[in-house]
Amino acid sequence: MTRKRVGVLISGRGSNLEALIEACKAPDYPAKIVLVISNVPDAQGLARAETALIPTLTINHKDFASRETFDAALDAALKEAKVELLCNAGFLRLHTEGFVKSWRDRHLNIHPSLLPAFKGLHTHARVLDEGAKISGCTVHFVRPEMDCGPIVAQAALPVLPGDTQESLAARVLQAEHRLYPHALRLVASGAVRVEGERVVGMTQIRDQPPIFSPPLDEEI
Ligand code: GAR
Repeated sequence: MTRKRVGVLISGRGSNLEALIEACKAPDYPAKIVLVISNVPDAQGLARAETALIPTLTINHKDFASRETFDAALDAALKEAKVELLCNAGFLRLHTEGFVKSWRDRHLNIHPSLLPAFKGLHTHARVLDEGAKISGCTVHFVRPEMDCGPIVAQAALPVLPGDTQESLAARVLQAEHRLYPHALRLVASGAVRVEGERVVGMTQIRDQPPIFSPPLDEEI
């Protein structure tokens, strides 16, 4: 099995990066991380990559005069490392159209909501403000608009009464850590592909009971 060479872009904590690092340890996992790039010099995720002996780079957006030159530096580093698939994992910079175009259908992102709902920042606060009863997370192919693009996989979970941003974020994050390795496996193995702006080819999807929130058996 030849493993796809994966680059990961981060800006912070890197817990999703860690989940991908762990997944790549499985002998049958169809991807390996060959480079981690952070745009933030002291991002915690850099230390996680170093511990796993994965090459890291800091490319600080503040050192660049424009988004174009910053993205060109990212692109050059990824090509130099012969990256085949790119994963944004808490990378909080919007890419230029040129960059997105050059990585089209080879570039994934994870977002902590059930897209297309609640794109952008402060996701969990907005979920709570709206009184949404179900939230979750999404892995999708990247398109120029923020948190947009063909959906590879999603996980859904109930918003609990009394949830705070922190408690909801923590439960969604646990789901993210399972979803991202799963989605990357589907893409890296070639099990799924983009066709007409939809991801097709999933063989494992099966019918499951719906999540009702509040539950149907709630006593009133
Ligand atoms: C994750 O919750 C990820 O879904 C989110 O940032 C967090 C990064 O955590 N990404 C976005 O909101 C993208 N729009 P991590 O650094 O521990 O993986």
